[in-house]
Amino acid sequence: MLLLRHCRSLTRVGLLKTQRVQLLQGAALPVAVCAGSLCARWGSSHGGHKSGQYQGSHGPNWRHALAGLLAGTGAVLAYGLHHSQTEQAATTIVQPIAPASSLPIYTQDEVTKHRSVEEGVWVTYKGSVYDITEFVSMHPGGDKILLAAGGALEPFWALYAVHSQDHVLEILSEYKVGELSEEDRRKQQSVKSTDPYSTDPERHPALRINSLKPFNAEPPPEILSDNYITPSAIFFKRNHLPVPQVDPKSYQLQVEGVPGGVSLSLSLEELKTRFPKHTVTATLQCAGNRRSEMNKVKQVKGLNWGIAAISNATWSGARLKDVLLAAGYRSEVAQQTSHVQFEGLDSDVTGTTYGASIPLNKAVSEEGDVLLAYQMNGEDLPADHGYPVRVVVPGTVGARNVKWLGRIIVSEEESSSHWQQYDYKGFSPATDWDTVDFKSAPAIQELPIQSAITQPVEGAVVERSAEEVTVKGYAWSGGGREVVRVDVSLDGGRTWQVAQLQSSEKGQVPAPSPPPGRAWAWKLWELTAPLPPAVQELEIVCKAVDNSYNMQPDSVAPIWNLRGVLSNAWHRVKVTVKEDEEKQKLL
Ligand code: MTE
Repeated sequence: MLLLRHCRSLTRVGLLKTQRVQLLQGAALPVAVCAGSLCARWGSSHGGHKSGQYQGSHGPNWRHALAGLLAGTGAVLAYGLHHSQTEQAATTIVQPIAPASSLPIYTQDEVTKHRSVEEGVWVTYKGSVYDITEFVSMHPGGDKILLAAGGALEPFWALYAVHSQDHVLEILSEYKVGELSEEDRRKQQSVKSTDPYSTDPERHPALRINSLKPFNAEPPPEILSDNYITPSAIFFKRNHLPVPQVDPKSYQLQVEGVPGGVSLSLSLEELKTRFPKHTVTATLQCAGNRRSEMNKVKQVKGLNWGIAAISNATWSGARLKDVLLAAGYRSEVAQQTSHVQFEGLDSDVTGTTYGASIPLNKAVSEEGDVLLAYQMNGEDLPADHGYPVRVVVPGTVGARNVKWLGRIIVSEEESSSHWQQYDYKGFSPATDWDTVDFKSAPAIQELPIQSAITQPVEGAVVERSAEEVTVKGYAWSGGGREVVRVDVSLDGGRTWQVAQLQSSEKGQVPAPSPPPGRAWAWKLWELTAPLPPAVQELEIVCKAVDNSYNMQPDSVAPIWNLRGVLSNAWHRVKVTVKEDEEKQKLL
């Protein structure tokens, strides 16, 4: 009963499953767990406990299940449940918990003494005091919860909006131990906690929002392929944290770590004037693009991206290679060091910034075309896309294209950031949250061959009287490999036709073929074919081939992985063929 109360919001997205779960005391009671083993495993893998090991007085196993909802690094997994759920979460008004007069009164000084697992971990929320010591090990965001120890939860929950949900408060209420003294309550109320997302930019209303805070959104698929160069306003947006406010006048890009070289600190002006400006047309794709199709096989963790976490733009800026040369890079350096790390200026409450790295040879290669971009589609970078400077690493997964770039470090090591080490890696379908070892897998860099159908969309109706159907989509491959063919089927993959490829805006002179290994931009494609006779439904399928003859796998299940990355199976869309009224009458 209690569980059902706690999992209320999950029932809205259909993730509940009633099971009989053995409680620690040995009694078997019918209870509901959230998303089966999903939350439980997440909780255990992030909190350092295996499901079922937790022995605390507050802690039967179901707490592990619930822990899955309390992501501290909202950056990572927390928003993956459902679009509508997340939107709702972001707007839910949190009700204060009614004070219980029988509980002891504590001063802020007394609370502050409890800042470690040994001394107990206490926090305050809306004037009440909570001893969350036993919850710490189950917190999916790991130790980050300790940053709130001895103080107020409000500033942390403002950053990670996933906490602003009723069931999170219900869990918290179980740990309540007292009330904050009247005087300290008043002091807390006078400190206004500000919303770190309040300065995020305005966004285009056409975008489909996956999460509001941080902002993650994709364009509707049917408009994605209308332009070869995606307008910046509808280019997909993938933020892990609030958009930082960067003053272009005081902006300085730090460059360090080149063995035998010098450290540089470059203003925006210097970046623009000291180095030649290069322009590259490159497609960016999030590792989680098409994750929703993996979710249909089995629930994964992460934002429920459709097929449009991919877009194409022209990027202009200085070459990373030129900047590294100015910092003293020489070819001998490649023997001593192998990575280039990037740090963003967006940070969480702990000051931890977004970060990633790429191999040094990609960064310094003449053919790598890695840019420190200050323009997108001929204008200053928009705030959401990294103003004033971002890295553009053509052919490489979106995650390494660090926005709001603050620091470049040439290093023997990969970036130690969460997103390089513990996220954006691929695993076997057999790997689950109990067995996953992030250290064992390489960080995703180049992405595999990809294509998807943008028009018609799933569930569309095609009139029989039209006699033909036009299918459109995009195709792209990572690592500069060029898409050479897209095959389209109208009958679920039994027969195929070859689509026409488009590598510039419609009506414009086609761009010359890119040099081998430098095909950074997608190809749009189109096929108009007669409607097959006597069918009421078409199952339209597409698959692309690149110039290394890499092809997409035909189904999702064999490439399913717990984070739902690298989802590139043949894309399938079902549409209905509507018979003419007259014909229908005759039938
Ligand atoms: N850089 C910073 N500083 N912070 C971020 O959250 N997100 C990364 C990458 N660079 C991110 C970042 C991810 S996961 C992706 S897919 C791309 O930016 C998305 O770029 P876009 O928002 O310009 O489409």
